[in-house]
Amino acid sequence: MDYYDRFEPSVFQRIVEIIGRPERVVEIGCGDCRLGNFIARTVGCTVMCIDTDTQGFTVGKRQSKKSAVAHLVRMIQHDAEDLTSLCPPKFDCCVSIYVLHELEHPVKVLTQVRKALKRNGKMVLVDFPKGSIAEQLYDEEYYSTRMMQSFLKRAGFKIITVEYFKKKQLALFLAST
Ligand SMILES: C[S@@+](CC[C@H](N)C(=O)[O-])C[C@H]1O[C@@H](n2cnc3c(N)ncnc32)[C@H](O)[C@@H]1O
Repeated sequence: MDYYDRFEPSVFQRIVEIIGRPERVVEIGCGDCRLGNFIARTVGCTVMCIDTDTQGFTVGKRQSKKSAVAHLVRMIQHDAEDLTSLCPPKFDCCVSIYVLHELEHPVKVLTQVRKALKRNGKMVLVDFPKGSIAEQLYDEEYYSTRMMQSFLKRAGFKIITVEYFKKKQLALFLAST
């Protein structure tokens, strides 16, 4: 268990508080779908988990069954650069954690997300900010929060709030369409 795993439960809990009672959620870059499964279990809504890499799906599907949410969670191999085939119906909410820094074209993906969301739809974006401990832990470079905010704005989102966990080790953006 690493530094970030230890406080992930509180981050997930905060995400479900923020999203409220959506009916249809999409998770971008789901990996093993930990977040998608957690949302389905806690909120009881449907979650479409997408990732270009299916490696995490076996664990994710096992966890969905164990948590009795397999009927709510769908995992599909899909590139978030084009979400048109997933709609309609549009989503109430999109969540994404630890993914923004890996996207080749972040504004393109965020624009697709905005178009796939309903009016007043919510986007909850969580990532490691520049200067966080994650840079040394994972030997990666991250965007500044100012840059993340600018990506969301360029994609047409309205920024509602920015929150931090553990003294800026993780940033959470809530944006709306
Ligand atoms: C660091 S991993 C995080 C995975 C997961 N969210 C988690 O918390 O473990 C980033 C994920 O984003 C996915 N990804 C990167 N670019 C993507 C894209 N264009 N469309 C969908 N998924 C993408 C990667 O395949 C990878 O699984």
